[in-house]
Amino acid sequence: MAKVQVLSTEVISRIAAGEVVDRPSSVVKELMENALDAGATRVEILLRSGGKTLIRVRDNGSGIAREDLDQLFTRHATSKIRSADDLEALISFGFRGEALYSIAAVSEVTVRTRTAEGDEGWELHLKGGRRERISPAAISGPGTEISVGEIFFNTPARKKFLKSDSSELDAVLQVFLPYALKYPERHFVLVHNDRTIYDLAPDPSFGERAARTLKLERSAVLEETFSLPGRAEVCRCVLGDINIQRPRRDIQYLFVNGRPVQHRNLSFHLNDVYRMIMPEGVHPFFVLFLQLPPEDVDVNIHPQKREVRIRGEAEIFGALRSAVERALMTRGTPRQIAETSLFPFGPSGASTIEGIPGERIIFGPGAVDPSERRDLPVPGERPGFFTQETRGDMPEVPSASLGVSVCERLERLRFLGTFASKYHLFEEGEGLIVVDQHAAQERILFERFLDQAARGEVEVQHLLIPQLVKLPPGDMLRWEACHAELEALGLLTARLDEETVSVNAIPGILKGPEALLRAVVADGQGARFDREAFARRACRASVMAGDRMSAAEAVHQMQALAACRDPMTCPHGRPVFIEIKTSFLDRQFFRTA
Ligand SMILES: Nc1ncnc2c1ncn2[C@@H]1O[C@H](COP(=O)(O)OP(=O)(O)OP(=O)(O)O)[C@@H](O)[C@H]1O
Ligand SMILES: [Mg+2]
Repeated sequence: MAKVQVLSTEVISRIAAGEVVDRPSSVVKELMENALDAGATRVEILLRSGGKTLIRVRDNGSGIAREDLDQLFTRHATSKIRSADDLEALISFGFRGEALYSIAAVSEVTVRTRTAEGDEGWELHLKGGRRERISPAAISGPGTEISVGEIFFNTPARKKFLKSDSSELDAVLQVFLPYALKYPERHFVLVHNDRTIYDLAPDPSFGERAARTLKLERSAVLEETFSLPGRAEVCRCVLGDINIQRPRRDIQYLFVNGRPVQHRNLSFHLNDVYRMIMPEGVHPFFVLFLQLPPEDVDVNIHPQKREVRIRGEAEIFGALRSAVERALMTRGTPRQIAETSLFPFGPSGASTIEGIPGERIIFGPGAVDPSERRDLPVPGERPGFFTQETRGDMPEVPSASLGVSVCERLERLRFLGTFASKYHLFEEGEGLIVVDQHAAQERILFERFLDQAARGEVEVQHLLIPQLVKLPPGDMLRWEACHAELEALGLLTARLDEETVSVNAIPGILKGPEALLRAVVADGQGARFDREAFARRACRASVMAGDRMSAAEAVHQMQALAACRDPMTCPHGRPVFIEIKTSFLDRQFFRTA
């Protein structure tokens, strides 16, 4: 028998399905998009067990006519495009005619639908892609309801990869939210195991919808529309101001020509613009609706349509940066940008923002060319005084191999003063030691806190007035999953209602109850609770809320640092101090020894 055989249709359908449907959230995404393409103004989603046992999406859209039902689950059957040319000017989410075919191949599907014209509705039932029955059904009003039960019942290997209910639900929220944000005028409902997670009646504006959905302070959310130079399309952004600071980039949404997408470069540039106003280590909220001529966007590069390719990126990003910068500067916070930097080194155009010492911006003629930033360095880490070329002269992060132990050396330092309210300067023999006050504090807290936790003796500070924190559903799920562990670590919290948690006590050595809670629930995805990760985040959050230090406190901090096991890096891996040798300064002044 020949070795090369064409696969059976059944195998082909399962392989194809694997590209479109990998977990319940991808089913929700496809069904929501179909509902929205059908013009629905109300979309209801009902899930059981994170969508693993049931996903039901009901809409009040056009409905599906009887004669189209026969083709519905056939591969490449679509009403949305007719020819390849249509791909160049897509206005619908769907275009491949693959979604229903793929979903049906790996689950049990029931469709109930009725059009405005049809005088009766229809019900269609399929299992593993095979039609089992079709019959008339009494359905009120036009619209469609698609129920997907027991996803992957026939592909056990894939079923094994499904995660806990809360992880799957979290993934569903990630696909649900962008559509809710994009259509503030439409009504969205999301119910999980009979609990209503969202019931979003129409909102008057994008900003209103975003604030309500993500539980943000309305006054901290601004809206702006703009056009890129030389283009007619109107772009829109919804931007959080400096008061919305997140420990992760978890509430950042990008749309290109109406499609929710992930786009590394776009995301990088927007986050980078925010470096003007945001302290390091926290991330902004934003929604961007970028409109481009359809011929400049290729949506057909990802099986789940999550990515797009944009033509002429560099130019678009430059214009986008200025537009968002303008919005933030004119409408956002009252902070001012100082005109010039005192020092001639560093990227030209770099300057300092008053009130946020040391934050630099990279706009204007001296900005780093976006095309050079493809490797996407962490925003905030940009070339400064000590560039690659002068690497030989770089100040050193003192290494443990210097003979005398680092801790002993730290104890011998003489305090000189504080620079830019965040660097402590110390002197030691031939070296000037520059300590990052926040990094040092993070390291000290981190070790103390872990020590206390290891001994099971975390000091707890009860708050006189509990701090109430509103959490969006995703964070609430993660809080539910870990609040017992948090309690053992001194963060005592309780649920007040569906969206509010009260912080009643925090570890005594930490600060900022709200930031602590947010830092902790911002991640986890149902993974096992990781005490070190918690400590790392909590200490970071606590330090962000830190105050200025007096000279005595700086000296005291250095002593505490000298007592640390690992004084050289902060818990996130950045250096705590650097050393500038006299020899380095001598070279800068052309002095020979
Ligand atoms: N909720 C709905 N309301 C009305 N028509 C629908 C609905 N869901 C699906 N359809 C019809 O079924 C067809 C097939 O849907 P399917 O999602 O498989 O493909 P598509 O949306 O055309 O393309 P894609 O695979 O890119 O999503 C659609 O083209 C549409 O005509
Ligand atoms: Mg579709």
